[in-house]
Amino acid sequence: MCPRKRKPPVTPPAANPDGWAGFTRRAFIKTWSAGTLTLAVGHNAMSSETAQPDETLAADEPVQLTLDVNGRPHAVLVEPRWTLLHVLREELGLTAAKSGCERGECGACTVLIDDLPRYACLTLALEAEGRRIETAEGLMDGGQLGQVQASFMKEDGLQCGYCTPGQIMAAEGLLRQNPEPTFDEIRRGMSGNLCRCGAYASIFSAVADAATHRKG
Ligand code: FES
Repeated sequence: MCPRKRKPPVTPPAANPDGWAGFTRRAFIKTWSAGTLTLAVGHNAMSSETAQPDETLAADEPVQLTLDVNGRPHAVLVEPRWTLLHVLREELGLTAAKSGCERGECGACTVLIDDLPRYACLTLALEAEGRRIETAEGLMDGGQLGQVQASFMKEDGLQCGYCTPGQIMAAEGLLRQNPEPTFDEIRRGMSGNLCRCGAYASIFSAVADAATHRKG
């Protein structure tokens, strides 16, 4: 057990004015400072009321979690320092969320947590317990593409495709919050996701197309 004084629970920063609810880079770096991260337990650091005030964990001390991913509970043993992106890809085999910059700049890792887009690379798995996590795999309707996925195909909203799952999750989150976005709202809502190929015109068309179909 780490003898260090307990640090306060990690709490998510407020969403920015553009509606992007992911963690800021600064908040994440603070969380990871000192290399030997010590976290207050409760396993769900977003909910400080559930934390166990006298318990501390070393960064490499495994913790048993149950994560709700795409509507299914997954029991996983994680180290407190592991990101949600790492757990999704390496522990659960859900590889739609991509590892790009791993520092909150590209959006390739975007997933939904409680309906809001978040960077999985800046979210600790511990923080996601008790939340509804959704990845692009979860948007499938049986063997059929979900509406946003189908609109990306129809409007050719991709080139190399690496950023596409993150773009789709950002679009899904945007449309859940704002089912009839204007073009400017689409641009702002998608601004946390970069496309190295520059396929933005097609991506915005795909989001608009998905909004139209959902409305119908
Ligand atoms: Fe998470 Fe780039 S990999 S923002």
